[in-house]
Amino acid sequence: MNLSHRIYLREIDQKFLSQLRAIDCACLGDFWSLEAYQREIDNSSSCVLGLTTENHQLLGFGCLWSILEEAHITVLAVRPEYQGQSFGKAIVWGLLKKARDRKLEWATLEVRASNHVAIALYESFGFKEIGRRPKYYEVTGEDALMLWRKGIHTEEFSILLEHWHELISARLLVKGWNL
Ligand SMILES: CC(C)(COP(=O)(O)OP(=O)(O)OC[C@H]1O[C@@H](n2cnc3c(N)ncnc32)[C@H](O)[C@@H]1OP(=O)(O)O)[C@@H](O)C(=O)NCCC(=O)NCCS
Repeated sequence: MNLSHRIYLREIDQKFLSQLRAIDCACLGDFWSLEAYQREIDNSSSCVLGLTTENHQLLGFGCLWSILEEAHITVLAVRPEYQGQSFGKAIVWGLLKKARDRKLEWATLEVRASNHVAIALYESFGFKEIGRRPKYYEVTGEDALMLWRKGIHTEEFSILLEHWHELISARLLVKGWNL
């Protein structure tokens, strides 16, 4: 008997807006407004990728901007009560796959220098630090690290994507989630 719960990586539409905002407030300290999320959903250069259950509960999400050859990851968050189960990894995997499918060549993002969990997560996908923006975050005055992942358009990266998918799916299954 299969007791795992089905979960899905899918592009998010506006019926998820209130859940996007709730996760934003819980995880990102009120980063983007409802209107900002609506703009992301409407903008064809953006991708809002959600991890959902069968009955449309949003477990976490990530956003991407396509800028020429670049995929810029703007947001990543997993509901606090669901963190530590590889959902963050599944979402970053999904964003990188979207970037590959859009034939983008590299991915970039900014992350708080103190956010060791997120930094370790991005490094596991081959992101490297390429710079630092001093005092980037207004409220805390904290520095941002700029991370970069090159070679997204290469055959080698597509092979890695398949490999990561197997690893992440296997880890999720152990936790009772079937991606
Ligand atoms: C960052 C975030 C999305 C990670 O989501 P998650 O589902 O908890 O992450 P995962 O379970 O997929 O873990 C991925 C990796 O993160 C790291 N990690 C996760 N939890 C960790 C912890 N408690 N301590 C240290 N590293 C941890 C590990 O490297 C882990 O990989 P591993 O399991 O192979 O060791 C989530 O913590 C979050 O929403 N944080 C608040 C918002 C935020 O910081 N977003 C990032 C902005 S750039």
